[in-house]
Amino acid sequence: MQPLDTAWLLTHLRCPQCEAPALAVDASVLVCRTCGRHYPVVAGICNFVLPDQLGPTAQQEIRAINCHLHDPVKRQHLMHRDQNGLLAAHFLRRSVRMAARYLAPYATAGQALCALGCGGGFDLLTLAQFVRFKRIVAGDISTAATACIGENLAAQDGRLGLLACEFQRCPVRRSPDVVGFVFEALHHTADVHQTIEQLLAQNFDQLVFVEPTRNWLTDLLAKWSLTMNVEYSGLTPDWIHLRKVRAIAQRMGYHMAATTWWPCPDNLVPRWIKCSTRLTRGFCRLVDIGSWLTAPFHFGAMSAVHLWK
Ligand SMILES: C[S@@+](CC[C@H](N)C(=O)[O-])C[C@H]1O[C@@H](n2cnc3c(N)ncnc32)[C@H](O)[C@@H]1O
Ligand SMILES: [Zn+2]
Repeated sequence: MQPLDTAWLLTHLRCPQCEAPALAVDASVLVCRTCGRHYPVVAGICNFVLPDQLGPTAQQEIRAINCHLHDPVKRQHLMHRDQNGLLAAHFLRRSVRMAARYLAPYATAGQALCALGCGGGFDLLTLAQFVRFKRIVAGDISTAATACIGENLAAQDGRLGLLACEFQRCPVRRSPDVVGFVFEALHHTADVHQTIEQLLAQNFDQLVFVEPTRNWLTDLLAKWSLTMNVEYSGLTPDWIHLRKVRAIAQRMGYHMAATTWWPCPDNLVPRWIKCSTRLTRGFCRLVDIGSWLTAPFHFGAMSAVHLWK
């Protein structure tokens, strides 16, 4: 991808510290003309992470992902999460496809995509198989991961702006021509519902996210450590409650649409099924039929949510 033009970026970014829409370029840094804070631009990545304002969960996330990226095998796994067996590929592709359905009209209308919490960029690489955005702003809380996004998307068409930032202090300005997107990352924050509320209050008129979702069955399975397990970062994840997201949307004047389905984590599938490609495919199909039957009741462990003004 080609780099996004600086003029476009400057009109769509704001200072994450004082929230003023007054950033200016000065050599290889962005400077806030209101509070004077400097944001370094290194290897094409604008670094908007404020180290002095990171909470313990965010610090833990950065440490964990950077440690992951030092190991070539784990790095490869993060950048290509679907190359970890048929099951992972099936359910991850399915999840991205669900998000693509909500994002497609925005791409057709020529709007830009702002993707946050992208890790190594697997989500955007897969999304490009279903929907093409001409302009993408993408990043992660880790600058090392953000560099992987550039690497992963290098061969795609369009323009890409890379920025490292926290969901909680996102430097993207509210604009009718930008749609926000987060794929399986909001549950890595200390309070997922508060994070969603912040993104709506501060940054996006339209937001699409895919997140693991709680219901009575996932809560029951969690008692035997079959769902909501501790993440690689050591964090006990906070899955979304559709009921709570709907209440936030209503309170903040957003419309909401959601689709829910069942993914099946690798560790829940017996080894004798995974030994055979045909059995694995059949198993995936069975789970998908289950998802189709429960979808009208919004009953599933994964949701794609679309919120718009
Ligand atoms: C499970 S990974 C998903 C990555 C990517 N969306 C994908 O599908 O490959 C979660 C990502 O969220 C990022 N993350 C965690 N806390 C964050 C925060 N507060 N702000 C922004 N990103 C965060 C992590 O660095 C990690 O890359
Ligand atoms: Zn400022």
